[in-house]
Amino acid sequence: MRLGIVVVAAGSGTRLGASEPKAFVSLRGVTLLEHALTAIARLDEEARVVVVAPSIRLDAARDIVDRVLAPGYGSVVRGGTERQDSVAAGIAALAESGEPIDTVLIHDAARALTPTAVFARVAATVRDTSAGVIPALPMVDTVATTDGGDAITGVADRSRLAVLQTPQGFPFAAYREAIAAAEAGHTDDTSVFAAAGHPVVTVAGDEAALKITTPWDLRRAELIADERAL
Ligand code: CTP
Ligand code: MG
Repeated sequence: MRLGIVVVAAGSGTRLGASEPKAFVSLRGVTLLEHALTAIARLDEEARVVVVAPSIRLDAARDIVDRVLAPGYGSVVRGGTERQDSVAAGIAALAESGEPIDTVLIHDAARALTPTAVFARVAATVRDTSAGVIPALPMVDTVATTDGGDAITGVADRSRLAVLQTPQGFPFAAYREAIAAAEAGHTDDTSVFAAAGHPVVTVAGDEAALKITTPWDLRRAELIADERAL
């Protein structure tokens, strides 16, 4: 398989405040992780998937992988303290899989309803451009910088702002070289790749790819799921 996908699902979901780690919270009867993997399973291209899960939910994650992905297409590894540690664990597992992967996508399980088309678009653009690729939406809010308190120090030009989503895609070999060379503390997926001198471009994101962070986000995602079921 030439496409590798790391699904980071090892966060605790502090801001959601549920009794389960966030990826194992149910959205209309299906866990966020299962929603995310279902979109991946619908890709035309075969993909090798690594789910990065919390230590206390490794078995639950394996059950979901076995149910949603074809045998041999998915595996589960333990996450780390920070999101970037979890990404690194997933990348290492992909590298060890022995598959001839040319393109890697890194996806948040918290963006559970991301449409299959977004994954396909990101992967195709990585191959067309050899750039890092991020799905993005136009900024609709007015955004200001502040002095860290109440005072506004500037208002951003909205036409030059974008809201970034996942999956973020990279040529696999170049991405691994970039993270190996990155200084500690310089840890965002894309900024590591850009710091190594590679271009990063956006493709169209999707409103359904919202990141479920708060209880209100979960309500919005439920509305989207309901619309799809109609
Ligand atoms: N994530 C991860 N490992 C971590 C932290 C986060 O795999 N150590 C994953 C989450 O599972 C999620 C994605 O990164 O799919 C985005 O993180 P976020 O939305 O912040 O999720 P949580 O960290 O779980 O939520 P919170 O910050 O509210 O605790
Ligand atoms: Mg977090």
